[in-house]
Amino acid sequence: MDSYKLFINGEFVDARSGDTFESVDPGSGAVIAQVAKAGTADAEDAIGAARRAFDQGEWSGLAPDVRARRCYEFADQVAAQTLRLALMESMDSGQVIGLSKFWGMLASGTLRNLGYHAATKFPWEEEIPFSGNFLAPGREYIRREPIGVCVGIIPWNFPIAMASWKIAHAIVMGNTIVLKPASLTSITALIMAEAAQAAGIPPGVINVIPGSGAELGETLCTHPDVDKIAFTGSTVVGSDIMRMASGTVKKVTLELGGKSANIILDDADMELAVEGAIFGTFFHQGQVCESGTRVLVSGTIYDEFVERMHKRADQLQVGYQLLPTTHQGPLVSAGQLATVEGYVQVGIDEGAELVTGGRRVRPEGFEEGYYYAPTIFANVRNDMRIAQEEIFGPVVCLERFDTDEEAVAIANDSMYGLAGGVFSNNNARAERIARQVRTGTMWINNFHIFGDFAPFGGYKQSGVGREFGGSGLEEYTQVKRIHLSGAASLKANFQMVNIFSDDPRMDALQYKAPTNVIAGHGTLAGLPQAVVGLGCHRAMIMTDAGVTQAGLVTLVQNALCDFYVGVFDDIPSDSDLATVDAATAKARALGADCIVSVGGGSVIDTAKAVCVTLKNGGEVNDYMAYMRLTEPQTPHIAIPTTAGTGSEVTNVAVIHNTRLDRKVYIVDPNIIPNVAILDPRMTMGLPARLTAATGMDAITHAVEALTSTLAETVCDGQALHALRLMKEFLPRAVANGEDEQARIKVSVAACMAGWAFSTSQVGLAHSMAHTIGTLHHAHHGTVCGIVLPKVMRFNADHAADKLAMVAQALGVDITGLSDHDAALAAADAVEALMREIKHPMTLREIGVPEDALEADALHALADTATLFNARPVSDPADVLGLLREAF
Ligand SMILES: NC(=O)c1ccc[n+]([C@@H]2O[C@H](COP(=O)([O-])OP(=O)(O)OC[C@H]3O[C@@H](n4cnc5c(N)ncnc54)[C@H](O)[C@@H]3O)[C@@H](O)[C@H]2O)c1
Repeated sequence: MDSYKLFINGEFVDARSGDTFESVDPGSGAVIAQVAKAGTADAEDAIGAARRAFDQGEWSGLAPDVRARRCYEFADQVAAQTLRLALMESMDSGQVIGLSKFWGMLASGTLRNLGYHAATKFPWEEEIPFSGNFLAPGREYIRREPIGVCVGIIPWNFPIAMASWKIAHAIVMGNTIVLKPASLTSITALIMAEAAQAAGIPPGVINVIPGSGAELGETLCTHPDVDKIAFTGSTVVGSDIMRMASGTVKKVTLELGGKSANIILDDADMELAVEGAIFGTFFHQGQVCESGTRVLVSGTIYDEFVERMHKRADQLQVGYQLLPTTHQGPLVSAGQLATVEGYVQVGIDEGAELVTGGRRVRPEGFEEGYYYAPTIFANVRNDMRIAQEEIFGPVVCLERFDTDEEAVAIANDSMYGLAGGVFSNNNARAERIARQVRTGTMWINNFHIFGDFAPFGGYKQSGVGREFGGSGLEEYTQVKRIHLSGAASLKANFQMVNIFSDDPRMDALQYKAPTNVIAGHGTLAGLPQAVVGLGCHRAMIMTDAGVTQAGLVTLVQNALCDFYVGVFDDIPSDSDLATVDAATAKARALGADCIVSVGGGSVIDTAKAVCVTLKNGGEVNDYMAYMRLTEPQTPHIAIPTTAGTGSEVTNVAVIHNTRLDRKVYIVDPNIIPNVAILDPRMTMGLPARLTAATGMDAITHAVEALTSTLAETVCDGQALHALRLMKEFLPRAVANGEDEQARIKVSVAACMAGWAFSTSQVGLAHSMAHTIGTLHHAHHGTVCGIVLPKVMRFNADHAADKLAMVAQALGVDITGLSDHDAALAAADAVEALMREIKHPMTLREIGVPEDALEADALHALADTATLFNARPVSDPADVLGLLREAF
């Protein structure tokens, strides 16, 4: 008689206790082999070997393609054992030879296919694509790493399949494994261990320890050196394993029981459906977790179906598993036979109709084997125990249904959700049903089909996790996220500095200004060149009524020549999401390939958002997000017509969400316009009031960029020069709109302030302007101006040096002043400039109601711009105080 030993650390060894058990041929009752029986000490040895092997890295440290090649060698050694594997599988487990003869090839194929997938398709490393993170710039990526020591605990129904699945998944992904086969059927797993040894798989990578689950389970599932457990077996044991593994928080995948529904529709091919139901149930004596043991049959074909299935079942030859004429071999053990007999009695007692079978079979010469006849129960109700509990034998329940919905409801009325089938000549109808059944696999016009690249596993109490394909391999890895900071300096770390430091100022330079700015008299003529330069030839103009009335659209249309395809001129002040969607629809209808925005911030921001929806489809609300885009959007040429937003060069689009009554943003470097044309002709007609208001917006950008916690040198330079230009030229532009030199200087200053805040961000004054602009329909720049001096004084002690520079840029002689006093003088200088340009000085003047200030303060606090304010703002009373002052 053959004898088999444990396989631990690359060697075949006796159990430390010296214990063995006998393996019995269930078809004859004869003892076929003596197998060493592992105990706790052997399990610990195996875990220790697997741990050492993993930690030493001889296997886990290999590149996946090198490991795959070693697995191909292992696969060849398994294939070389095909005949021996087939015979031993049949004799050990009762599997018919017609099936077991395939396993050498299939197991070897699984090793090769999963190895190949791991080496060529599996995403071991992935960059996380996004525009970046302006608070914490750097590289983000993930690595998938082997998980460590895996334990595989497998059942007796498909010993080679289960052993090869567990071993292949674990080792191709770089793990080591301790495999515990079922004690009833452990021989072929040990033959696979021989193949691994012959292939030179390093010691400890694969360990096989036959033994009793009850004795070894605890050690295997609670040992701190085990990282993952993969179990195939009953739901009761699976749930125990999960409980045991929870103590050391192991990763667990479970492939458990099932009571799968095989749905036969009235339009099914009758011959195929009958065979599908027979194969779905009686394959391997019904000892298959995914068996279709509930056959749901349409009422219109039910009687005929029962009759034909009965006839087919009676034709199946039950006999010794090695005889070539046998269809159905023995059950695995006397115990399993008793379980099946018990359930058949339950079915009879519950009132189901026993159509055929329901008895033991004693083939001549093999009377001691555990054979049972294919058994059909008809008129089964789904609430009967035989329809709810897994029998794991050749017993099928036939249930009747009338509508597809009813079939789905019956199929789903189960604690299990492993698999199922639909037989129909209408693929669409079958797929509709397949999608509604809550199981891990649905076969249409087929059953019991597996594939190395197709995931298998259960819903509900049929399991956790998947085997096979990318999903299966992923279960054998850990995901590690690596954040590689873009700057290794405390002063470049926004979060640390902002939360833990009393001086939340950053000191880092990160500057991006991709817009091609063309400024000067007559530059509008360069528009066609800009369009072709972007590879475009169908430009849609976006604008608003005021700009159109000012005659500016006609100028642009004429400049565009043949590239003009249409105009969308329906943009309100502080544009909203619906406007973006309407403009996108028009651009699509016109087949526009680029956008030319002509107007103030409302127009340019709307156009930025349109460029996103035009490129990506869907509605703009889908894209209101920070730093999500990963590539350039639809080309955009911006032609500003007001004096201040700078939006033509910034990375932000501010849009009104009317449902929330809040301004919402896309912030992303990919929405920065490609080209900005600053032609003074476009702003010369802007009324004085709007020139002053939009100019104050630019001044606010410059001041807040300078004082922001993210302020940096390039932006400081731009902001300061923008302030100097504004101080000198804004009053001139307001006084005389036709002053071309003043107009161009103001436009360039606004653009520089835009560049500055695009990187440095703004602060509390903007939070207030966003809020009051939205809630009280006040002009953005106007509110910016009114609140700016108040916010400057509030920030005085937190950004005194920067505000002192502001004072100088605005022409204040700060000689002899402390920084603090200079900061206050800067605020005074802003107010003086406002008076000079006849800008409103209070919120009252522009119609903001006093009783709204409290709500406005809360609203403003929630605006993201407060994040970057020089002085930390978290008390609504502070904001309210400032609003009252501004009132
Ligand atoms: N994305 C950014 O970087 C950014 C920066 C600042 C402000 N904004 C946003 O921009 C919006 C404010 O923009 P705005 O201040 O330019 O105002 P706006 O675009 O709302 O225009 C105000 C009014 O001026 C009229 N107008 C514009 N140009 C004209 C001209 N040359 N002659 C006559 N009338 C003209 C318009 O028709 C409109 O009625 C706000 O929604 C604000 O939140 C965005």
